[in-house]
Amino acid sequence: MATSKVSNSPTQGINIRLTASERKVFKRAAAAAGCDSIGAYVRFLHSQFSDLSHPRSDENDVKSHNYASSQPDLFYKTDLGSIFLGDSRCWLHGQAKPASVDLIMTSPPFGLVRKKTYGNEDAEHYCDWFRPFADGFARVLKESGSLVIDIGGTWVPKQPTRSLYHFKLLVMLVEEFGFHLCQEHYWWNPSKLPTPAEWVNVRRVRVKDAVNTVWWLSKTPFPKANNKRVLAPYSRSMKALLKNGYKPKLRPSGHDISEKFGRDNGGSVPPNLLAIANTESNGHYQNHCRRENIAIHPARFPAQLPKYFIRFLTDPGDLIVDPFAGSCVTGVVAENLKRKWICCELSREYLIGGKARFVPTLQPLPQDGRTSYKITPPCVLPVTENNVPLFGDGGRQRPPSLRRNVRTISQPTRAGSS
Ligand SMILES: C[S@@+](CC[C@H](N)C(=O)[O-])C[C@H]1O[C@@H](n2cnc3c(N)ncnc32)[C@H](O)[C@@H]1O
Repeated sequence: MATSKVSNSPTQGINIRLTASERKVFKRAAAAAGCDSIGAYVRFLHSQFSDLSHPRSDENDVKSHNYASSQPDLFYKTDLGSIFLGDSRCWLHGQAKPASVDLIMTSPPFGLVRKKTYGNEDAEHYCDWFRPFADGFARVLKESGSLVIDIGGTWVPKQPTRSLYHFKLLVMLVEEFGFHLCQEHYWWNPSKLPTPAEWVNVRRVRVKDAVNTVWWLSKTPFPKANNKRVLAPYSRSMKALLKNGYKPKLRPSGHDISEKFGRDNGGSVPPNLLAIANTESNGHYQNHCRRENIAIHPARFPAQLPKYFIRFLTDPGDLIVDPFAGSCVTGVVAENLKRKWICCELSREYLIGGKARFVPTLQPLPQDGRTSYKITPPCVLPVTENNVPLFGDGGRQRPPSLRRNVRTISQPTRAGSS
């Protein structure tokens, strides 16, 4: 039976006059929902609508909150870029020029369960929190520009299931703000630890979570882009094919592979799976922070991530903005690639560390190297299924041999899990 979640005793009555037919409809609906009166049904409806139980706070409402009234302070300036200290909502709705930005490249705080030192938003209220940023992004982005958001998923507390918050964010950006989803990318971090250990290593009912989603959005379906800026080296077999020639043929799938397939285009079009290890721990930035006793930002993205999108989607001289700048990785990549840039960050300490990317000299981008990672196809190892029974309880209980151990459910805490 549907029950009202309202536990407080009612203290005030309200009178609603219903017509006979309205009363009939309400009574029928109340009975269908398992409520024994129209009053109980009204309370039940109230409990169902989260918007009513969690009204949008004024802070998240752009119209009632005058973000433009205070502005972030200029913290540091280079030939091409500026770092601002303060709330980027104020910059986006204030001093930023409308339709002036070519690329917003960012990684907001994720809706994590185990919060980082800079604070994370609840997955549950994430979209409400994000609205003023989304509004600001729509304001400052050019028609030809792109919005790229790196955002990782999270687990429902104490349960081996995933939150939908980052998908809800995507749906909100498209359906409420009119952005177009150009293409989703997946950033695979091969060095990611197997977490949450409880579900992956202990109860063994989930696999390692190793990708972040990266939403590439734009104001029109046709933002400027050219994939020839981000080609990958040809595979060995493709190089052999280019050398030895290719006979056009019809694939079993029905695809007609023409002789154009055998043409050397300088590299192969990369997939939307970006393999980038997030392992840098002893670079100039980290050494500077340790020397100066400043907190190292706990959720930096690797330079290759903004580098890919900056090269793919902008030209030298274009303006790139990171409204959740952290340690200013986007800024240093943009400066190296001769783009103009603006970084905005709430924490002075992260910016003191981030400044070391530019002072005393601009830090060059890490060498890409040619490291490539092997992904083994699934089910390569043979298994005797009878010897490896499924956990019929879906992992509700730890395996008997481990029951005496302390139960810990770990959440990602490493860089790359913002
Ligand atoms: C995931 S981190 C970004 C890390 C960054 N990509 C890097 O590589 O260093 C998100 C950052 O957003 C900052 N932040 C949160 N709310 C903000 C706001 N309203 N304005 C500016 N920065 C904000 C947090 O302090 C945090 O450093």
